[in-house]
Amino acid sequence: MASHSDERYLHGHHESVLRSHAWRTAENSAAYLIPHLRPGLDVLDVGSGPGTITLDLARLVSPGRVIGIDASDQVVANATGLAGDNDLANVEFRTGDAYALDFPDASFDVVHAHQVLQHLADPVAALREFRRVLRPGGIVAVRDVDYGATVWFPQLPALDEWLRIYVDAAHNAGGEPYAGRRLKSWAIEAGFDNVASSASVWCFASDAEREWWGLSWAARATESDYAAVAIEGGHATVSELREVASAWREWASAKNGWFTLTHGEVIARA
Ligand SMILES: C[S@@+](CC[C@H](N)C(=O)[O-])C[C@H]1O[C@@H](n2cnc3c(N)ncnc32)[C@H](O)[C@@H]1O
Repeated sequence: MASHSDERYLHGHHESVLRSHAWRTAENSAAYLIPHLRPGLDVLDVGSGPGTITLDLARLVSPGRVIGIDASDQVVANATGLAGDNDLANVEFRTGDAYALDFPDASFDVVHAHQVLQHLADPVAALREFRRVLRPGGIVAVRDVDYGATVWFPQLPALDEWLRIYVDAAHNAGGEPYAGRRLKSWAIEAGFDNVASSASVWCFASDAEREWWGLSWAARATESDYAAVAIEGGHATVSELREVASAWREWASAKNGWFTLTHGEVIARA
């Protein structure tokens, strides 16, 4: 397994990436967790990114406290601005590291991480750290995509290339693009006794969804850190990435276009 220092957050924080992440809500990205939430619980959201899910969690547990931490100062500043715009007093965002949480043992009722473990070279170490800050009876909730279970139509050949390049670049960046199927095993390895697993999908098919998802990936294919990692790692040439971007634009404008991503989910109790 790669060490922490080998890992690089594959997507980076280009506007096209943040646009994609900001679509996320508790309803479309953490539905498996919602039944476990109630007012008064304290929640840590690790790798909180733009913070849209974090804000929803804050609404669901208010007056409980929600803290979002992220490795990037830039996204922490943006998320802090979003919390202010939404007038939410029970949420805050801080810079922090999933492997070394800056909190005493037994500080939270829920530790949540959405689309984060796939980017870590040592997800089991992170899960052990999440467990450390859990109160007795608390839960860890993690959800990650499995790129081996992405399905789309029309089957444009350049989108097969997109997936190949993505999987190679993700492995090269120290991550695990097939994380969805691994979450349960990682939680067991991290020492959780009680691990409940489920799966859910995102489906993008309407005109608006295709435009948003397809054009976001068209931009990411040439402008984000994904493009830089793919080129530096020898997984794609600039012209291949241009073809991928063009295929995403073609898919976005296809009236019959359809795309699903399957996500693994785990609720783990210490
Ligand atoms: C795919 S984004 C998910 C953001 C958010 N959870 C969501 O779903 O909207 C992953 C986030 O994890 C952060 N991240 C990556 N490695 C991290 C680490 N070791 N500690 C804390 N955050 C990390 C990245 O900066 C990025 O914002």
